[in-house]
Formats: sequence, C-alpha cells, structure tokens
Amino acid sequence: MDFQELVAMRYSVRAYRPDPVSDADLAKVLEAARLAPTAANKQPFRLLAIRTAGRSEELQRIYHRPWFGAAPLLIGVCAVPSEGWVRKDGKNHADIDAAIVMDHIVMQATDLGLGTCWVCAFDVAAAREVLHLPEGVEPIAFTPLGRPADEAKPKVRKALADLLLEG
Ligand SMILES: Cc1cc2nc3c(=O)[nH]c(=O)nc-3n(C[C@H](O)[C@H](O)[C@H](O)COP(=O)(O)O)c2cc1C
Repeated sequence: MDFQELVAMRYSVRAYRPDPVSDADLAKVLEAARLAPTAANKQPFRLLAIRTAGRSEELQRIYHRPWFGAAPLLIGVCAVPSEGWVRKDGKNHADIDAAIVMDHIVMQATDLGLGTCWVCAFDVAAAREVLHLPEGVEPIAFTPLGRPADEAKPKVRKALADLLLEG
C-alpha cells in the first residue's frame, strides 16, 4: 500500500472482532518492531505478545475498557532505560525508541488490515504485576491487535501552519 494511504487509513480502533490473527501476521508485526530504528542502535526495548483468551479479567486491571483484551492479541512495548542511549545532557532515549517501535507495530498492522489503538493511560503497577515484568523493564504502551469492528472517523488535526515553527 502507498505510504500516504496507509497513514490516512490508520485510526484508533476501539472495537474488535474475536477473529484470530494468524501467526504469519503476528510474525510480520513483530519483525517490523524488531527493525525499528533506535538511538545509537541500542535496541533498549522488549515486546509482549499476549494471547487474551481467558485473561480478560486480569487485563481489565491494566486498562479498564471493554475493548482492551477484546482482540485476540495484546501487544506491549517496554523500555529498558539501563540499555538506552543517553545524551550529554542526561536525556535517556529509551522511551522515544519504544514509541518508534510501537509506531512500526501500528503501521505494519494497518498494512495487514489489522486494527490497533495506542494505550498509554494504563495502570503501570497492575501491568507490572499481571505481566510479571522484571525490574528495569518499564511498560510504555500497549495496543490490541485484531480485526476492527468499528469504522474510522474523520481525522481532527491542527492545520500545518499551526505546527510549523520558524527556526
Ligand atoms: C502516545 C499515545 C497514547 C495514547 N493513549 C491512549 C489511551 O490510553 N487510550 C485511548 O483510548 N487512546 C489512546 N491514544 C489514541 C489517541 O487518542 C488517538 O491516536 C488520537 O485521538 C487521534 O485519533 P486517531 O488515532 O484515530 O487518528 C493514544 C495515542 C498516542 C499516540
């Protein structure tokens, strides 16, 4: 698919069908994550590919929305700050890297006709507990992965003129 078409097609899917996601599609999504660029190529991230079947109650503890856990898969991206590139002023880039990884996941999924929705408003403590995350591994974002059961709404965005700064 043409990239601009892909960008226009992606939207936050907040209703999912229970239809399975094939292993081949999941593998493509995870490979897109693996190939994401990271600062100084440090790759300071870990991935979770959670099969949601039978886990909806505990997954609701992480993010309490009916659609979270409704797709057959839930993908999580975690940062490992101890592995991240640190700029001279002390800024650790692991979170930025994790965000790029998630965007690769989202765009590859869109290209496969799969729905996603970035979720950052989750309960970090619940995520750590439910998913048994080791110390030093910080959950950054989740997305369900499955067939959409809703439709895209028109995009509401600022005008480009409001976003461009004169440097
Ligand atoms: C970093 C980030 C965090 C987000 N967290 C949430 C979230 O916790 N819950 C949710 O329903 N949507 C979340 N979203 C989705 C945004 O609300 C959505 O992308 C935005 O409203 C634009 O709509 P669109 O994705 O349909 O184009 C998040 C998006 C981003 C990029």
